[in-house]
Formats: sequence, C-alpha cells, structure tokens
Amino acid sequence: MTDADDADSTASATDANASAGGPNGPTGTEASAADDDFTVTPYAVEGEVDYGRLLERFGADRLTDEQVERFPDHPLLRRRIYYAGRDVDQFLDAAEAGETHSIVTGRGPSGPMHLGHVMPFYLAKRIQDETGARVFVPLSDDEKYLLKEQSSDEIREHARDNLKDLLAVGFDPERTRFVIDGPDADAVYPTATRVAKRVTQSTVDATYGEPPNVGLSFYPAVQATHLLLPQLLHGSHPTLVPVAIDQDPHVRVCRDVAGKEAFDVQKPGALLGKFLPSLDGPGKMSASDDAPGIELTDDPDDARDKIAQYTYSGGRVDVDEHREHGGDPEVDVAYQLLYYFLEPDDERVERLAREYRDGELLSGELKEIAAERLGEFLRDHQRRRAALGPLAEELAPYRLTDEERARLGATVV
Ligand code: TRP
Repeated sequence: MTDADDADSTASATDANASAGGPNGPTGTEASAADDDFTVTPYAVEGEVDYGRLLERFGADRLTDEQVERFPDHPLLRRRIYYAGRDVDQFLDAAEAGETHSIVTGRGPSGPMHLGHVMPFYLAKRIQDETGARVFVPLSDDEKYLLKEQSSDEIREHARDNLKDLLAVGFDPERTRFVIDGPDADAVYPTATRVAKRVTQSTVDATYGEPPNVGLSFYPAVQATHLLLPQLLHGSHPTLVPVAIDQDPHVRVCRDVAGKEAFDVQKPGALLGKFLPSLDGPGKMSASDDAPGIELTDDPDDARDKIAQYTYSGGRVDVDEHREHGGDPEVDVAYQLLYYFLEPDDERVERLAREYRDGELLSGELKEIAAERLGEFLRDHQRRRAALGPLAEELAPYRLTDEERARLGATVV
C-alpha cells in the first residue's frame, strides 16, 4: 500500500480529487497546484509540463530502479520515458509468480495514429511476449465523437484505420482482446452503468473540468469500465495501465470506484509516460496540434522530409559556431526521437549525445540518423500492416467471445 492509497481510502482525499489544474479544477488536497503554469487533463495539455510537479499533483509514484529492473527490458522504461506509476509492484509480483496479470491500454480514434500514440502498444507487446500478460485494447469511438467536431462516419473510419495499426503491433490473439465502445456496447454498458452510479458529477468536474455535454460526463464511467475488464472476466488480479500521463485522471476515477464494495476487483495500477515532443519543440505530439506529426502510415521518404524540415534543432546558428560550442541534445527533437524510441542501443544513443554536445556531430547529421532509424521503424510497421487481410477477419480472433460477453452481463437469457 502506498501513501496515496491510504489517503484514498478516506472520504476526504480520493484518488480522483487529488487532481487539479483543469480549467475548472479545484485543487483538491494539493493547494499549490494552482501556482503551476501548466495544465494536464485528458482533454487539454497546455504549458511547459513539469513532470516532477505533476506527480505531486496527481499523487503517483516515481518508478524506482528496482522496479525498472523487474520489468522486461525496454528502452521506454530504461530511459524513464515511462517514469512513474501506481501499484506497479503488485503487477510485477504477479508476472514473476506466473499468476494472472493484465495490461489495458487504449486508443481514441480521432485521427491517424502517430509515433507517440503507438508507444504504449509496443511496450505492452514487449511485456506480453515476455510475461504472458493479457492485453486489453479498448477503442473509445464514443469519447472522440463526443469530444471532437467529427461525424460518427469519420470516427468510424479512423477506428478502422487505427485498428490496422494496432493489429500490426502483433499481439497474441489468445491473450488479447480489442473492445470498441460503439460496436461492443452490449459488453461495456452494463458495467459502465454500475460504475456511473458511483461517480458524482462534482468528481467529474473536478477531475476533467466541466464537461461540454452530458456524454462526456458519463464517459469516465466507460473508460473506468475498460480498466476493469480484465478482472471482470478473469477474477481479481493486478492490472497495469500504461498511458501518457494525461490519462491518469481516468485511472484515479477508476481506482476510487474499484475500492467500493460493489466490485470484487483490485485497483488498477498505472505506468505513466511523458509525451513525445512534437516536431517543432517541447509539448505533446498530438494529431490535434498544428505542428505536423509523424504518422505511422507516412511514406518513409516523406517522414524523412518532415524530420529535415520541421524538427526543432538544438544546434547552433552555423557550422563554425556549432563546432566550437556544440549543440544541446536535450531540446533537439531529432535526438529526442532517437532517445524515446528509435535508437534502442544505450551506448550508441549516449555517444550521439556526447558527439553533438562536443560539436563533432552536426544538426543535419543527427537529423539524418533519426530519419534513417525512423524509416526502418516505419517500413517494419507498414510491412506488417500491409500483410493484414480484411479487417473483420483479422479482428475476429481478438473480439470478445459470446461467453465473455455473457460474463459481462451482455445477455438476458
Ligand atoms: N482516452 C484515451 C485517449 O484519448 C483512449 C482510451 C480509451 C484509453 N480507453 C482507454 C487509454 C483505456 C488507456 C486505457 O487516448
């Protein structure tokens, strides 16, 4: 039990209302949150995010070296892109003991998937390969319809397109389920209703800011349901939710509800990640931002051009200056892409940073290396995507079975 859990077992300080900082978010127990000049909620990420302060605001724990060592080895963990969590030890204990353990990580289908969007899925796949974790991949078509100025046809088209990217990751169909809120409403809705009865409107307002419509007042109950699916189907067991940290409010709402006696479940844990910087500088790489992002379906040559043209450089104004004073890899987006994702070899990535700082490596050269690695990643991903057959057929082994639907209350007879 962490301190945060001790707190959330009392009525006054719950996981959910530990949050703040939304446009209408009261500060809950964290009085100083209002002093920060950044906002992180599932619906808005603004300002320069201070990842350390955010943990205090949200009441999550920084990952320890020991925890990172217990996970299957992955650069996203080794380099602390996933840098914090909740109840990570319970998940690791179960994985090591060969007991049931699950991962839930989803996608809101509001546009093409970008490099940053796919990170948690490749991480989940790596963990599944090594520990046999069950993986649940919910698609919140309802959430994006309620949130965005898009028709349901547009959202459906994005969902179909995103599903191909998610299938291309290559999860084990025996141990993986894809759940799409609209088409799978029969399986999701009964639990969402039970959850919704136990979440107040003021918790929603405090956690996310006042919702623009009643659909988004209800949606947190749907995402909480996603996080409970593994346990509703396979009994109480540790669940880990790897997400970018803007999704943590959903985890907190779910943990509050999971603590109530109506559900025979453990609170889902979380693995919280930093945002992949957008090409033109720090911030969140998002399909909704103006800056171009790298899409998983970008032609590798176009992606190379995006890197050459748009990536914010930590280099100096000219070659002589750069040779003399060196560049700054910390703010250089080409370097950051290599560090986050594209160069898994620690020695190599450290050498690049060193050579860049020393002025030996020029900004253009660094971009060239990032573009090269990016091309390899995109070609591999796209090869697997192109090898897929018709979507319905590919998806079939990943859908909830009739028996699973029945267990979720989706039948009356
Ligand atoms: N809300 C998430 C997003 O906007 C998508 C999502 C739905 C999700 N259900 C989830 C993410 C469960 C993690 C776990 O990106």
